[in-house]
Amino acid sequence: MIGAHRKIYVLLGNPVGHSLSPLMHATAFREMGVHALYIPFCADNAEEAVRDIQTLGIEGASVTLPFKTSIMPHLDEVDESARRIGAVNTIVRRQGRLVGYNTDWIGLVRSLGGSTDIRDSRFAILGAGGAGRAAVFGILQEGGMPLVVNRTPEKGRALAREFGCRFHPFPDMATLKADGLIQTTPVGMWPDTEATPAAREHLGRFKLVMDIIYNPLRTRLLREAAEAGCAVVDGLEMFVRQGAEQIRLWTGREPPVGLMRKVVWDRLKKAENEDRADKES
Ligand code: ATR
Repeated sequence: MIGAHRKIYVLLGNPVGHSLSPLMHATAFREMGVHALYIPFCADNAEEAVRDIQTLGIEGASVTLPFKTSIMPHLDEVDESARRIGAVNTIVRRQGRLVGYNTDWIGLVRSLGGSTDIRDSRFAILGAGGAGRAAVFGILQEGGMPLVVNRTPEKGRALAREFGCRFHPFPDMATLKADGLIQTTPVGMWPDTEATPAAREHLGRFKLVMDIIYNPLRTRLLREAAEAGCAVVDGLEMFVRQGAEQIRLWTGREPPVGLMRKVVWDRLKKAENEDRADKES
């Protein structure tokens, strides 16, 4: 069995083919001298996947779509933050028990905190899915004030009510007041890169705009926000920081964040250049 020699970590999702997590984590483990494999695990069913992780002796997992919520009842324990967010993106084997955590919110506040003070600042969170929930939770944890903006009012209102913050429907984007905008919907993600969830003329009021999308690195939203004079934060930093936190949970050691950022950035740039060359040819 491979596990007798090396610890095995997996990326659990469906699909898993395009993720940059295997590259990032394998690079980190190599640099740290951790004798481990990190491999994609494409599953059909959350319950079966947890059983496989248990019986194969897998040490830990990153969890991605569509299993972040459906996996929760099958784990032995779920940490308090992940329970409040309602999503697990990390599994750690602890004394034979599989424990679920959420590092997305930590990635988000670390990347945002590099550019602005979260405490006492107001952030409009665009979107009320899993990433939106992690953003609301993270902002509250750091002493900031989130407000939720969502296309479907019922969903946005429910999230706002649960966390005791305000809700605004989409048309309010034209008037609402906040220090920052955090975009958590899939709008603008490759290949639909000309889509944007917020009109250019509404961006200048924010000091900072963050997009959690990292492919492309510079979404249309961020391009227009920068043109409007806002500070911008792209999704790469959040992706790297949530991954770094996973390594910390799995190994108890400090991850090589700079190297992790570099390999992911290089790969994204390479893909962008190839895409541009394809379009030009
Ligand atoms: P995740 O869990 O990854 O965050 P999700 O649960 O699919 O993803 O949530 C995506 C969020 O993006 C939702 O808030 C969704 O809005 P609705 O609640 O109205 O569905 C939002 N979203 C997705 N596509 C959108 C679009 N084209 N315009 C505006 N919001 C969109």
